[in-house]
Amino acid sequence: MEILLKGLLRLEYRGYDSAGVGIDGGNGKEWEANARSIQLIKQSGKVKALDDEITKQQDMDMDVEFDVHLGIAHTRWATHGAPSPVNSHPQRSDKSNEFIVVHNGIITNYKDLRKFLESKGYEFESETDTETIAKLVKYMYDNRESEDLSFATLVERVTQQLEGAFVLVFKSVHYPGEAVGTRRGGPLLIGVKSDHKLSTDHIPILYRSCTMEQDTCHTLFAEDKKSVEYYFASDASAVIEHTNRVIFLEDDDVAAVTNGRLTIHRIKRTAGDHPARAIQTLQMELQQIMKGNFSSFMQKEIFEQPESVVNTMRGRVNFDDNTVILGGLKDHIKEIQRCRRLILIACGTSYHAGVATRQVLEELTELPVMVELASDFLDRNTPVFRDDVCFFISQSGETADSLMALHYCKERGALTVGVTNTVGSSISRETDCGVHINAGPEIGVASTKAYTSQFVALIMFALLMCDDRISMQPRRREIIQGLRVLPDLIKEVLSLDDEIQRLAAELYQQKSVLIMGRGYHYATCLEGALKIKEITYMHSEGILAGELKHGPLALVDKLMPVIMIIMRDHTYTKCQNALQQVVARAGRPIVICDKDDYETAKSSSRTIKVPHCVDCLQGVLSVIPLQLLSFHLAVLRGFDVDFPRNLAKSVTVE
Ligand code: G6P
Repeated sequence: MEILLKGLLRLEYRGYDSAGVGIDGGNGKEWEANARSIQLIKQSGKVKALDDEITKQQDMDMDVEFDVHLGIAHTRWATHGAPSPVNSHPQRSDKSNEFIVVHNGIITNYKDLRKFLESKGYEFESETDTETIAKLVKYMYDNRESEDLSFATLVERVTQQLEGAFVLVFKSVHYPGEAVGTRRGGPLLIGVKSDHKLSTDHIPILYRSCTMEQDTCHTLFAEDKKSVEYYFASDASAVIEHTNRVIFLEDDDVAAVTNGRLTIHRIKRTAGDHPARAIQTLQMELQQIMKGNFSSFMQKEIFEQPESVVNTMRGRVNFDDNTVILGGLKDHIKEIQRCRRLILIACGTSYHAGVATRQVLEELTELPVMVELASDFLDRNTPVFRDDVCFFISQSGETADSLMALHYCKERGALTVGVTNTVGSSISRETDCGVHINAGPEIGVASTKAYTSQFVALIMFALLMCDDRISMQPRRREIIQGLRVLPDLIKEVLSLDDEIQRLAAELYQQKSVLIMGRGYHYATCLEGALKIKEITYMHSEGILAGELKHGPLALVDKLMPVIMIIMRDHTYTKCQNALQQVVARAGRPIVICDKDDYETAKSSSRTIKVPHCVDCLQGVLSVIPLQLLSFHLAVLRGFDVDFPRNLAKSVTVE
């Protein structure tokens, strides 16, 4: 029970509006007999509420031991049906819990399935799409043609009826001690823990349904045939305290754990399939996913940025000879250099990293660069050609919209490049090549260090694209030397924390904040406004200063909080004009500016002074005061910084 609850806590950033566990229900001495019944405990709210409920049940009945041999658990981000115990997972086949299932994703044909099952007499208790899966598995079990149908085969048959995206793990009273997991369009991994040598370091796939009794199954077990523990999880952070050895499943793999052995099946082999799944060793450390001395993950991640950007550059940028190496692109860089255009596709903060670096990408690659929100890109059926190079920027590497756009671009023959923070994620595996940003696990829902690392990674790519262009060398050197000092400059900006906390104390009761800038800093405005919306629930808008006079100026008066970003770059004079326009309407702008810019300070009601660096990197510095501001505003307004309402860190549904 403790393993399940801790695992859920680590995954809470995925969703946290309700949670549940399904465990062996008996309470006798024999685990097998215990596993012939299943107990479900579910609660609305965060995992803590579920934990409290379990403690309450234990207190009420001192005999309850929760001697769990195998359990499944889930923390939910509602898509179908409001958060409530009955809508949370595991969902069940019937009142006696014969089959239970946890699910991430959306089943798009659930209405048809539900109608069919209702016609067969099944009564539904929840509003979820997931419940149809639990009922369908029972229906197929009850109508099986042979007694020795394996759990894996049963699940395989169920998934053949499902449309949409899903990651599923099943447990059943009919298969005591067995768990079966499968995925299509979402992540699922298996942690493998053993104190003993494992029988193999990879599992060959079995390309047909089989019963567990057949010895042709390729299984993984410890050499002494004991003491292997398996953990199904949608993210490594849930298992890392038990093991760093994991197997990443592919779409349509069906993995079964039976009597301490793991088997992986697929229905049929298709061209390009890798016929085995390797056991990989992850570099992630437990301490990376702990808060340490910080009050929230978000705060910790903001303060990690001097190190996380170094980790993004480590081994890749040589500051002495001004070279950049990106191992994940080396086989494709020539092809990329020959392309017709670059398309950067992403959602949320990752999209802003594309906006932030577009200009320098255009400058250094001399290619047209489009920056696209994945959902809109798909809605428009955007034309994509074989000689396009499409980048998918994603912290998690699992965002469904970005993943769908990736499939769309692959179908059209474009070269695909992943820029992700998650080794083994769907985007990093499905793209032709890519760059891992190496920022370390990001847990806070509001992305901070991933943004600055994506920013740096895209700049490194731009530098690589022009490394043999003589005319570009002075500019390249300037940027690379800018990267060298960037970590120290970030530290300097972070030292403004107290000052920004004081500013937050003046602003936290406001309803709205406008953030204005242009050029390299438009992305900072969008990103700052997103941070404020996400965690403070204040209205905030990032405004392109060039558009100010075309509408937003009407919002400005002496009461409206306005933040402006004015740096000494090629837009400086134009930004000064915008500043004057705001002041002329009695606005009292708070300005983020270069630390020695006394001119700007004169017209501002307040300044936040940041150190100067090369223009195209300045956005890494200008965003940090806004990250800090949103953090302090949220704390002062009394909100849970890491778990903003209605949001999830990784949105694996369309
Ligand atoms: C969610 C998160 C955002 C994030 C976006 C894209 O909406 O709440 O913080 O920026 O997804 O996520 P990705 O993992 O693809 O970068």
